[in-house]
Amino acid sequence: MSQSIPLRLGVLGSGKGSNFVAIADAIAGGSVPAKVVLVASDVDDAGILRHAAERGIPGRYLAPGQFRTKLDEAAETAYIAALREAEVDLVVLAGFMRILKGEFLRAFEGRVVNIHPSLLPSFPGLAAWKQALDYGVKVTGCTVHYVDQGIDTGAIIGQRAVPVLDGDTADTLHERIQQAERELYPLAIAAVARGEVKVRGRLTSGFAARAEDR
Ligand code: GRF
Repeated sequence: MSQSIPLRLGVLGSGKGSNFVAIADAIAGGSVPAKVVLVASDVDDAGILRHAAERGIPGRYLAPGQFRTKLDEAAETAYIAALREAEVDLVVLAGFMRILKGEFLRAFEGRVVNIHPSLLPSFPGLAAWKQALDYGVKVTGCTVHYVDQGIDTGAIIGQRAVPVLDGDTADTLHERIQQAERELYPLAIAAVARGEVKVRGRLTSGFAARAEDR
């Protein structure tokens, strides 16, 4: 991969799209050598599609099919086709609320990244900020990682710590973590785009393996 060609990003999201906005703004500001070529959502009225439209970035609602937590086979095929058609180099999950596995991960092996609202490997899975608060940790945060077949288990690209304050509620802690996410995700994507990511411990293929070879 040439370092001078912007990395082509396909962003998948189901929600309000604040991480997408942070990434798009960082790209527009010149700090991330990438270009968002497609935003796709499994929710037809998701904020992320509205933000894409406002920025003139192609956005598509792609129906998820019959399951609640994953894509069915036809939907998986449609997502893969749309991302390939847009010649996406890196798939960026930004609040995409469905588990991607099997065929999808084989199609984009080592080229899918996610942001998770805890310091992995602590608190994988849903509502990680609430898990952290209930456990009583004093520090939590967020993690950008490659996606593998497990739940929030892929190689770690970057992390940002966030304090848990006395008197925090799930909402106040979640908001503080989301602020950190909006700082971390553009930096992590810039590091992937520049081939600067060093992963330890959990090797994957694709960008991670190439960076490790350097
Ligand atoms: C983020 O908090 C992220 O941790 C989780 O989904 C949320 C998406 O928020 N994976 P947004 O749609 O980017 O605002």
